[in-house]
Amino acid sequence: MDASQIKMVGVVGCGQMGAGIAEVLCKSGFQVLVYEVSQEFLAKGLKNITNSLTRAVDKGKITAAEKEECLGRLTGVENLQGLAACDVVIEAAVEDMALKKALFADLDACCKPETILASNTSSLSITEVAAATRRPEQVLGMHFFYPVPVMGLVELVNGVKTSPETLETGRALAEKAGKTTVVVRDRPGFIVNLLLIPYCCDAIRWYDAGLASRDEIDSAMRLGCNHPVGPLALSDLIGLDVVLFIADILYKEFGEARYAAPPVLRRMVKAGQLGRKSGQGFYTYTK
Ligand code: CAA
Repeated sequence: MDASQIKMVGVVGCGQMGAGIAEVLCKSGFQVLVYEVSQEFLAKGLKNITNSLTRAVDKGKITAAEKEECLGRLTGVENLQGLAACDVVIEAAVEDMALKKALFADLDACCKPETILASNTSSLSITEVAAATRRPEQVLGMHFFYPVPVMGLVELVNGVKTSPETLETGRALAEKAGKTTVVVRDRPGFIVNLLLIPYCCDAIRWYDAGLASRDEIDSAMRLGCNHPVGPLALSDLIGLDVVLFIADILYKEFGEARYAAPPVLRRMVKAGQLGRKSGQGFYTYTK
């Protein structure tokens, strides 16, 4: 499928990532159907998209009329069957392999035969998710970055059976949504998280060992390397639970000490200190 043949895109999950993906897709002219597990989550996700579009109007990035057009292309659905006619469906549900397999099996059962199924997973195996369907050659990873409207990259992940046509459809969709793509084999963490998560974990380890203060570590990487934020602030932004989850997957797969999660990270997560989303991580956040 080239970009002109992709008319309708489904998004499964309207949390932080799903909402961002739905927003950039409807801004790029696609009809977007968003599925959530409950009416409450759906309403919350759609409200977040509306708020984000309103901010874009306030900043002069889009006009009020464009905002209304975007919202006109966006529809919430309350069951997966509602996504049956989509050309592409992007899953952005929670990072749980059993849940993703069940979702992909259901999507496979209800979507039209040509539908391409994509997962926004940050670290789980696309090949394993694809194996839950009868169309593994039509399954790929499309990994977006947070915040989706701002970040320019989509990693396209080739599962063992992903066909070249499926990859090209993913590329066409991402590029029409204004993103640059890189193609990567199905390995935990793909490119970005394979390199980023050990970096964040190292920063956390050295902070815990008393190398320097939190602010000094973050300032060093901001000013010394021109990173937009330092590794401790970035870990808070990603979510400490997410950093831990990915580190554990990398360690399980590769079994190398450099991928092991720092004990302090595990304990902060156990204590509910998850970073920005919980109000407390390496920094404290007030609304
Ligand atoms: N939605 C839309 N736009 C947003 C936004 C959001 N959630 N957050 C920030 N922006 C926009 C702002 O509107 C602003 O736009 P303008 O410059 O056009 O006005 C711009 O981004 C900068 O925002 P701010 O001035 O408010 O704040 P900032 O300068 O601190 O930038 C940031 C915020 C863009 C998030 C910046 O801190 C940054 O780039 N951080 C690093 C982000 C990053 O590395 N993300 C990847 C995480 S890893 C990941 O996602 C993979 C994974 O699987 C874990």
